[in-house]
Amino acid sequence: MSSQRKFFVIGNWKMNVDKARIDNIVKFMSAASLDPNTEAVVGCPSCYLSYARQRLPDEIAVAAQNSYKVAHGNFSGEISPAMILDSGCEWVILGHPERRTIFKESDQLIAEKVAHAQQTGIKIIACLCETSEDREEGRTDDVLFGQMKSLAASISDWSRVVIAFEALWASNTGVLATAAQVQEALAKLRHWLRANVSDKVANSTRILYAGSVSSSNCRELAQLEDLDGFLVGSAALRPDIVDIINARRPDVSSLIAHFDRPDGRRA
Ligand code: PGA
Repeated sequence: MSSQRKFFVIGNWKMNVDKARIDNIVKFMSAASLDPNTEAVVGCPSCYLSYARQRLPDEIAVAAQNSYKVAHGNFSGEISPAMILDSGCEWVILGHPERRTIFKESDQLIAEKVAHAQQTGIKIIACLCETSEDREEGRTDDVLFGQMKSLAASISDWSRVVIAFEALWASNTGVLATAAQVQEALAKLRHWLRANVSDKVANSTRILYAGSVSSSNCRELAQLEDLDGFLVGSAALRPDIVDIINARRPDVSSLIAHFDRPDGRRA
């Protein structure tokens, strides 16, 4: 946990919304009191980027969930960072674990996408992931450092990049990563940045955790030394996302208990 790095939460809607569902999410996110010390973003399907941008409060940024490695051309089905920016959105998620595993995007392709996105000025949430096979076969470090090396080689401006680590084995599997497991992975990634990029980048780059983050586990995880926020899937469709954005804000019930006693001590 560092005051140098602003807490960051992205709620990734994946392919789970339509206009009615976006309207509902916009309603509860707009009505909530969101911690101004958190940078809040939603990850939106490409066909709804403008729709979501026009409806969300300005404080909530919008990210596309993918983009291609060139600005335009004959690439049916793809969108470019320029198009995302032109839709009024500032962020793109690249290398999401579902792109890596389901759509078989290679480190090389993701690196090319990141390199192109960096040239356009769009801000990037660059993802890495550990699968259950990686973990069981003891190759987690090799896989994570390999993904990080490939991403880092394409990044010239780290101030416009957030790194997200997903424990895929803990995403909607019924198994949760412990706080110690999350801290260990994030610390390794920060150490890699320190050893291979620079102290400045290691100190200033936000590293997020993903994998079944919810209103039940976000407060404990939010206190971890090397954790700077969350990439959230399922809970982003529910009012839970508000609790996750507010995960570092003092708990209202403890404040009430605090003010209950004239001496200011907790009741
Ligand atoms: P989850 O998804 O929070 O549902 O595990 C995270 C993600 O894959 O973006």
